[in-house]
Amino acid sequence: MIDSSLSIPLEGNFLGIETSCDETSVAVISKGKLTANLVSSQDFHADFGGVVPELSSRAHLQIIIPLLNDALKKSGLKLKDMDAVCATAGPGLIGALLVGLTFAKGLSYSLKKPFIPVNHIEGHIYSGFLMQEKPEFPYLVLVVSGGHTLLLLVKSFREIKKLGSTVDDAAGEAFDKAAKMLGLKYPGGPEIQKYAQKGDPLKIKFPVAELKGEYDFSFSGLKTSLLRYIQKNYGDSGSITEFHRKIPEQEAADIAASFQEAVVKALIQKTEKAMQVHDIKCISLVGGVAANKKLRDSFKKLSLKYNKKLVIPALEYCGDNGAMIAFRGAKLFELGKKYSLDYAPYPGLTPDHFS
Ligand code: KG4
Ligand code: ZN
Repeated sequence: MIDSSLSIPLEGNFLGIETSCDETSVAVISKGKLTANLVSSQDFHADFGGVVPELSSRAHLQIIIPLLNDALKKSGLKLKDMDAVCATAGPGLIGALLVGLTFAKGLSYSLKKPFIPVNHIEGHIYSGFLMQEKPEFPYLVLVVSGGHTLLLLVKSFREIKKLGSTVDDAAGEAFDKAAKMLGLKYPGGPEIQKYAQKGDPLKIKFPVAELKGEYDFSFSGLKTSLLRYIQKNYGDSGSITEFHRKIPEQEAADIAASFQEAVVKALIQKTEKAMQVHDIKCISLVGGVAANKKLRDSFKKLSLKYNKKLVIPALEYCGDNGAMIAFRGAKLFELGKKYSLDYAPYPGLTPDHFS
């Protein structure tokens, strides 16, 4: 547990609730310290090869109250001690978001304490602040998750400038789809990483997309070229899901390593380009895919090459978690932001989310 000061209102107690996808999480920040960050992962989606929205909502409903009770107990606090109730409002699965957001609104109404809707991506963007060594403004952040790939310039707690984003699949989605083609389980990122450790990253030359948008990303061509490679070598007949049965173990490892190499290369190329142009103090890597060791190591090399501070959250703050929601919510509270209980959840980012 992080015990360093989070530089948020010292006297406040903040509840953070996250239910945007397949993790239910409740966190408490008390007097500037993170006192609980409980995460319940819906592992059963693996049986379906991806997240089933309806099942996700139901599982959030079942676990949210016990999780809240445990988080309060761990923090030695009561609900009435909370100064604000923060919850993810989007982007995410609407049904899943509705569970956490409506729950938070109910708590806020009954406690007569402010309700603070938090943008999930902003939660990730500022998640480096949960670490002892904090980001310094302005910083460049690469957000890589299952649903988003964004390169952003973070100027302050109020101002974020979007430099680029994916024009098709998100990086995490690319890992998940590649894993599926190799017959590996969901979520695919950790599986590809595991296989890649035993493989040769230079064995297969997968393409890195050239795009018009200076800082944009594209992973669909890479995905198609992986499919073509597997089709050509292992299956001109049968369904996609059957191909992998014919791939020898070492070849699967080489494919995973080469695919991971191409994804990391694409992410690093654009990040480095932005580092050369923008005057920054620090770089940060956040989101579920930030758990990837190869990508973390490559960011470390970048930070050393350009002599910039590097902040990558610990693994427990890379995947979805309530701590980042409580932190961002506490900051919005500190900035004096006020929200109505009519605030509706939203599935995606809108153009005005970042300037
Ligand atoms: O941020 P996150 O937990 O949820 C979303 O907001 O989407 O990200 C989940 C994504 C999944 O696509 C998963 O495969 C990927 O993060 N992921 C990884 C690794 N661990 C999780 N991708 C690559 N390498 C990993 N070690
Ligand atoms: Zn996320």
